[in-house]
Amino acid sequence: MFSRVVLSFLLASNSVLAAKNVPDNPLYDYDVLQYIDPLIGSANGGNVFPGASLPYGMAKAVADTNSGYNQGGFAYDGSSITGFSSMHDSGTGGSPSLGNFPLFPYTHCDNDDVNGCIYPKKSRATGYVNGSVQASPGYFGLTMNSGIKVDMTVAQHTSLFRFNFPGGNASSPLILLDLTDLSDSRQDNATISVEPLTGTMTGQARFLPSFGSGSYVAYFCTDFLSAAGVRDNGIFVDSRASRGVKDLKISRGINGYPLPGGAFVRFNSPSEVLARVGLSFISTEQACLNAHNEIPYFDFDSIRQKAVALWKEKLSPIRVSRQGVNSSMLTNFYTGIYRTMINPQDYTGENPLWSSYEPYFDSFYCLWDSFRSQLPFLTIFDPLSVTRMIRSLIDTQKHLGWLPDCRMSLCKGHTQGGSNADIVLADGYVKGLNDGIDWEAGYKAVQKDAEEEPYDWSSEGRGGLISWRRLHYIPVQDFDYIGFGPMTRSISRTLEYAYDDYGIAQMAYGLNKLDDSEKYATTSTYWMNLFRRDQKSFINGTDTGFTGFFQPRFLNGTWGYQDPNTCSNIDTSNRACSLQNNAAETFESSIWEYQFFVPHDMAALITLLDGPTSFVRRLDYLHDQKITYIGNEPAFLTVFQYHYAGRPAKSTERAHFYIPGSFSPTPSGLPGNDDSGAMGSFMAMTMFGLFPNPGQDVYLISAPFFESIEIKSPLTGKTATVKTVNFDPTYKNIYIQFAMLDGMPYTRNWIDHSFFTEGKELVLFLGPTESMWGTREEDLPPSLSTSGIVLDGNLRRR
Ligand SMILES: *[C@@H]1O[C@H](CO)[C@@H](O)[C@H](O)[C@H]1NC(C)=O
Ligand SMILES: *[C@@H]1O[C@H](CO)[C@@H](O)[C@H](O)[C@H]1NC(C)=O
Ligand SMILES: *[C@@H]1O[C@H](CO)[C@@H](O)[C@H](O)[C@H]1NC(C)=O
Ligand SMILES: *[C@@H]1O[C@H](CO)[C@@H](O)[C@H](O)[C@H]1NC(C)=O
Ligand SMILES: *[C@@H]1O[C@H](CO)[C@@H](O)[C@H](O)[C@H]1NC(C)=O
Ligand SMILES: *[C@@H]1O[C@H](CO)[C@@H](O)[C@H](O)[C@H]1NC(C)=O
Repeated sequence: MFSRVVLSFLLASNSVLAAKNVPDNPLYDYDVLQYIDPLIGSANGGNVFPGASLPYGMAKAVADTNSGYNQGGFAYDGSSITGFSSMHDSGTGGSPSLGNFPLFPYTHCDNDDVNGCIYPKKSRATGYVNGSVQASPGYFGLTMNSGIKVDMTVAQHTSLFRFNFPGGNASSPLILLDLTDLSDSRQDNATISVEPLTGTMTGQARFLPSFGSGSYVAYFCTDFLSAAGVRDNGIFVDSRASRGVKDLKISRGINGYPLPGGAFVRFNSPSEVLARVGLSFISTEQACLNAHNEIPYFDFDSIRQKAVALWKEKLSPIRVSRQGVNSSMLTNFYTGIYRTMINPQDYTGENPLWSSYEPYFDSFYCLWDSFRSQLPFLTIFDPLSVTRMIRSLIDTQKHLGWLPDCRMSLCKGHTQGGSNADIVLADGYVKGLNDGIDWEAGYKAVQKDAEEEPYDWSSEGRGGLISWRRLHYIPVQDFDYIGFGPMTRSISRTLEYAYDDYGIAQMAYGLNKLDDSEKYATTSTYWMNLFRRDQKSFINGTDTGFTGFFQPRFLNGTWGYQDPNTCSNIDTSNRACSLQNNAAETFESSIWEYQFFVPHDMAALITLLDGPTSFVRRLDYLHDQKITYIGNEPAFLTVFQYHYAGRPAKSTERAHFYIPGSFSPTPSGLPGNDDSGAMGSFMAMTMFGLFPNPGQDVYLISAPFFESIEIKSPLTGKTATVKTVNFDPTYKNIYIQFAMLDGMPYTRNWIDHSFFTEGKELVLFLGPTESMWGTREEDLPPSLSTSGIVLDGNLRRR
């Protein structure tokens, strides 16, 4: 049936096929940095950090604003500048994170008196010249309304700020450093000392993490370079400053708001002052060492060039053809990739909590967000960094007892769903990450999540394990006297624990622990126990026509009730859906959406939901009625789950429905919090046409948004290629008619990771209508109930 079509495609595609193995293909020879706009997502709740950072860098310099959306420091929404600080997280919800020790400049103080400058953060906030904001990899700058131009670049633990004063030389400009952070979380007894001759400031303060428990101490070492020299310096408390006092130890203050306090330095009349801020979580000495080692000469341009070179290198494995494509697509794509490397942050050498030779990464913010596409994406083009992240997660478990679910600022973060590190480890394991990872230790760590309930499961592990073992689900209103955590989310926790166990089962299989593998494969089916066959769903009082949904279930086995629409995008009930007391039984999502969260056994789910046709209607309804919301991570996989019902064409349709519709390359262009690059990775992988089912060696194939793509594996040096025939940049030909893998017809609608590591070539023949390609039973991705545990290709190395 295909033969004639295929033949004509082959003729049409001769030149495409012949282009294979052409070195330095000019198609891909362009400067990728022109397509990176760090300001995307910096307004309207995207919460992206738009400042200067290295890949996974600890120093992140930007202007901080007093916006309600200042989680990433700078929000591009007309709010005012409160300072220029050097540590941030990107894309997070909740309270703003970090933003410690901001600097703030004045051209002069009134009456040439240091008390003529305004010190407290609230009153010093200043606007900036609209249109002056400039951001690019490793660089951020703007001009304040006072006329001071501030720009900045960074090294790994050090930032470099350049203050340009207007009109040539200002008369005695002042720069202050405030012992504060973005969320005003400073605790008691922060200190600062200013060195009288040079104005060098050193100090420390204890702060609170933004979505976790405990506290952390950060240290800084800030020094200045100005041709004009230092005039005087001292400290300030609240609104008053002194040139005579050089050391300050300050209390938290009263009324729950930390007392303003810090130091200042005034300069003779320079046109420019450079401020170098060394950072550390170990000591002020180490902060100074970091500064001296990383930015020895205050040479702004060469530090910036180094940052640019690092970004170019990190972005080098992926290139797409620009042929015919609107540049806004390229900007969306490459900026999405860029944002996957802002967080997590590499704090190796800066971990005060334990001593180890293993890498230490922080700002896993949170794994519930990043397991879905960000970390799997990085595994393709930066596997060495993911390897180091996994080593760090395992080392964290070794020293703190548990794998983190969320981790920021050296603290434990709140658990949102399951023990999602299990999926992260499983994903790395099945894709063959190896270099230095102690997989036996990794296995013990994930197994502990499944077997041992922590006393405080709000920040690690899982709760309700007694009921899980006895009842085979997490009951609503569980009785749990072993460990403690928010007694909510019983449905989403059941589904996530089941999937986590599937991840463990795969690892056990690969590590030749076959009894364990069997055991966790069995517990991974427990999601079925919350399926209530006769449950209906009414929206606006009208029967949706679908029957059979997950429902909460009590300890005694009887059903509770949660409207399947509760906590959906169109729910109007105002029910709490996060970690509040009495929140819903589904986390940040509805039963309607969680109904699809069985990533490891879609075949069984589809059978339960009355077969592929009915399943597809249900998935259509989820999207068409806007019950799902692409601005939150549980939506990601639902875009592609048509693949499992033999309708890969519909996945591609949905991909184009959401991109660029919900993702535009503008400051307010993201549909939700970027969550450390989760949105960026969703967008980039969707446009790339290979979307992961995370935790499995499975990528679902769609038509890419580009005519061709090359991805070089940094591990093997081999280049994988996706090529299309009949590519149409207006996206009418988005349906795969036929595919070839390394010259052979390929009918599966999915592919495994060896595609990347072995540098294979996938050619997709596109057309304007849905075809039979990838629709047959044997073309579908694996499911536990139909295929058992499948570990494709990559296990051969053991
Ligand atoms: C700032 O400039 C941008 C474009 O540069 C414009 O869209 C926006 O409306 C301006 N905002 C204000 C407050 O003038
Ligand atoms: C802060 O300093 C005061 C005075 O030296 C001391 O009594 C107090 O214990 C310190 N508090 C903390 C949290 O270190
Ligand atoms: C600015 O300051 C520098 C260094 O103090 C000095 O050499 C120069 O003459 C000054 N320029 C003006 C315009 O005052
Ligand atoms: C490119 O995309 C942008 C944003 O969607 C749109 O405004 C513009 O018209 C497009 N340009 C072309 C040439 O299609
Ligand atoms: C529910 O009502 C809203 C507002 O009238 C409407 O926009 C929406 O389409 C309705 N949804 C369904 C599923 O009936
Ligand atoms: C089961 O438990 C629920 C919640 O406590 C209760 O409402 C219900 O009556 C119980 N059913 C039976 C049969 O005991």
